[in-house]
Amino acid sequence: MAHVVLTDLVKTYGNFKAVNDVTLTVGDGEFVALVGPSGCGKTTTLNLIAGLIPITSGEIAIGDRVVNDVDPKDRDIAMVFQNYALYPQKSVYKNLAFPLQMRKLPRAEIDRKVKDAARVLDMTHLLERKPRELSGGQQQRVALGRALVRDPAVFLMDEPLSNLDAKLRVQMRSEIKRFHQDLKATIIYVTHDQLEAVTMADRMAVMKGGFLQQYDSPAQVFAHPVNMFVASFIGSPAMSLIPVEARTVDGRAVLTGAEGWTMALSPLNARKVRNSTTKKVVLGARHSTIKLHRNAMPDAIPAKAYTVEPTGDVTFVQALLSGATVNISVPPNVVVQPDEPIWLEFDQERLHLFDGETEIALMAD
Ligand SMILES: Nc1ncnc2c1ncn2[C@@H]1O[C@H](COP(=O)(O)OP(=O)(O)OP(=O)(O)O)[C@@H](O)[C@H]1O
Ligand SMILES: [Mg+2]
Repeated sequence: MAHVVLTDLVKTYGNFKAVNDVTLTVGDGEFVALVGPSGCGKTTTLNLIAGLIPITSGEIAIGDRVVNDVDPKDRDIAMVFQNYALYPQKSVYKNLAFPLQMRKLPRAEIDRKVKDAARVLDMTHLLERKPRELSGGQQQRVALGRALVRDPAVFLMDEPLSNLDAKLRVQMRSEIKRFHQDLKATIIYVTHDQLEAVTMADRMAVMKGGFLQQYDSPAQVFAHPVNMFVASFIGSPAMSLIPVEARTVDGRAVLTGAEGWTMALSPLNARKVRNSTTKKVVLGARHSTIKLHRNAMPDAIPAKAYTVEPTGDVTFVQALLSGATVNISVPPNVVVQPDEPIWLEFDQERLHLFDGETEIALMAD
């Protein structure tokens, strides 16, 4: 296995920058997810690493070797795509063996590698089947196996699960994670599904518009999103982002909402707000950090339930506040009616504050 280092990587199409100065190191044996909305440059980044498209500028190193001018087939990588493109007429065994035959490996070595891969992926019993005789998940496993037999320095995967139904996707998610743990493989995994990235990756690279926004462990990105985009992209239901104004009332820092309510800030949050470039601040809160009360409480903000969505384990209540939709989760036994008055208590310790102009997370000095 090997590490991968991208330095100031740029890909332009005409005057459009699909990948904009991306710098990022993937450690040896690390599982990194490239995640972001459609069109943000994930596939382009992966294809640049694979050498399938030429880079405009920057540098790509795999292991200790700069591969800018190295042919894709000599980069020691294996790709797994969304459409697994198995040979329909060949058995699973032959599908796995084919890339090795192309490399003219001795027959005994091919046989050993194919059987090893089949064992790792728990598909020894499927080796004589044709792809059409396999389920979607089994086909995806063969596609993984075909990458595995090549014993590459790096696995590159582009939305490998997106053709599977929801249940199978969850199952394959843990299988790929297991595959990574067992092999200590270096994996760069592209997905637009933030949940896949959060659940599988050691680190996630969140992209938007060709720019790398944040690169950190899922826990860090979740707890400390660097800006409003990352805050709203990671986590489901999305973090609520409420536009407010920072004021000082009787010497105390408060936030005020469009409806006229005020929220006193903790000393730490007051210090953060002081660093805003404008009085306009955005208050961010995840659903689990807002307490819903059915009676007026000190420090709780009056609102009105808008929609109520029971999911079985947990009920999601949406409320409107200062023109924003606020998501709150409550236990299923709490029954709230739409249009019912509610009071929202925000956990000061787990509040996020963003500059209303730059949308960047506010930090205390
Ligand atoms: N050959 C090309 N010529 C011009 N523009 C391109 C080309 N390939 C990609 N792009 C543009 O570059 C941007 C990034 O594309 P890319 O395929 O990397 O997105 P993505 O993040 O993988 O999106 P998705 O989640 O939809 O797969 C898009 O705006 C796309 O339209
Ligand atoms: Mg893509």
